[in-house]
Amino acid sequence: MSGESSGQTVQASAQKPGQVKGRLRVLSGVQPSGKLHLGNYFGAVKQHIELQDAGEAFYFIADYHALTTLQDRQKLAENVHDVALDYLALGLDPARATFFRQSDVPEVCELTWFLSIVAPMGLLEKAVSYKEKVQKGIDASVGLFSYPVLMAADILAYRSHLVPVGRDQVQHLEITRDLAEKFNRVFGEVFPLPDYRLSKEAKVPGTDGQKMSKSYGNTIDIFAEGKNLKKAVMGIVTDSIPVADPKDPANCNLFGLWSLFSSDEGRTAMEARYRAGGLGYGDVKKELLGVIEGYFAAAREKRRELAARPDFVEDVLKAGAAKARQEASQTLELVRQAAGMKARPVA
Ligand code: ADP
Ligand code: TRP
Repeated sequence: MSGESSGQTVQASAQKPGQVKGRLRVLSGVQPSGKLHLGNYFGAVKQHIELQDAGEAFYFIADYHALTTLQDRQKLAENVHDVALDYLALGLDPARATFFRQSDVPEVCELTWFLSIVAPMGLLEKAVSYKEKVQKGIDASVGLFSYPVLMAADILAYRSHLVPVGRDQVQHLEITRDLAEKFNRVFGEVFPLPDYRLSKEAKVPGTDGQKMSKSYGNTIDIFAEGKNLKKAVMGIVTDSIPVADPKDPANCNLFGLWSLFSSDEGRTAMEARYRAGGLGYGDVKKELLGVIEGYFAAAREKRRELAARPDFVEDVLKAGAAKARQEASQTLELVRQAAGMKARPVA
């Protein structure tokens, strides 16, 4: 399985029966769970956007997955719209990548069933995402338990080769490979085994130094501006070493956040300022605020423009769904045949 390597080959490697001919197929999904933050950006969105030119890219909004924890129809619809706008504003280009809503491709649910019948209970019982939720006292539904099977279906429905994800999703990719392998063994080769790719920034620190996460309330949101952005940045927790004294950049989450936006040379220069003494954290925070504002200025402007076009998001998602469904239904034909079913009568 691949890891942090960059420079993936653009051609799909060894062609297997059932494998999509030609280009490397890249796929990833994002849950519509609220406002995107810097952790989401540097841990996921940025590499999704960069990889849209590495091959044939499929990106989707995982609303079926979100239903395992978000059961509020208005919130779900709003979140789907918001995350779609965020991605489009941040550079996802629907002319280059197929961008769609998971639930617009019902074939993925049918494939979930085929994968369920080869999925060992024991394997799913080991899934960290499910175990963590149970430990937190959340009542586990069958849907939450089989979350990784639905995720495997997302990936395999498009016979994807490469899945850019955050470190927290690696186990799901391992499960996906296990299920694909098992299906191929039982029914014949249908699926290529997908590799994952981790982004360089596996763990962006939050304003309190823990991993940035919505559930810790320590986020800096990508599209925050004005007072809200200022409040979040000025609230970054630092130690209380006096200004005049030397400081250690390695243990400073302010430095960690600042570095996300910096070149290697810039980082070296900032490290030197930390070590020399005389550096005030307040000054670094002000610099960081300016840097964040500048970095996302164009995306903010684009988001405003796109938000003012009422049908734009829906039109993009609909066009993406048509293309995605075509691919997924071809895969499902192969799957049904492999399992011994006849071609479905035309409705
Ligand atoms: P949250 O923890 O805020 O609920 P999600 O779990 O919805 O975030 O994250 C979606 C994706 O964004 C994750 O799979 C991961 O790839 C990435 N991600 C989230 N937080 C971070 C972080 N602090 N550092 C790096 N990547 C992150
Ligand atoms: N589980 C992923 C997350 O929470 C989202 C997701 C759903 C996904 N299906 C996927 C990611 C398929 C990659 C491939 O971040």
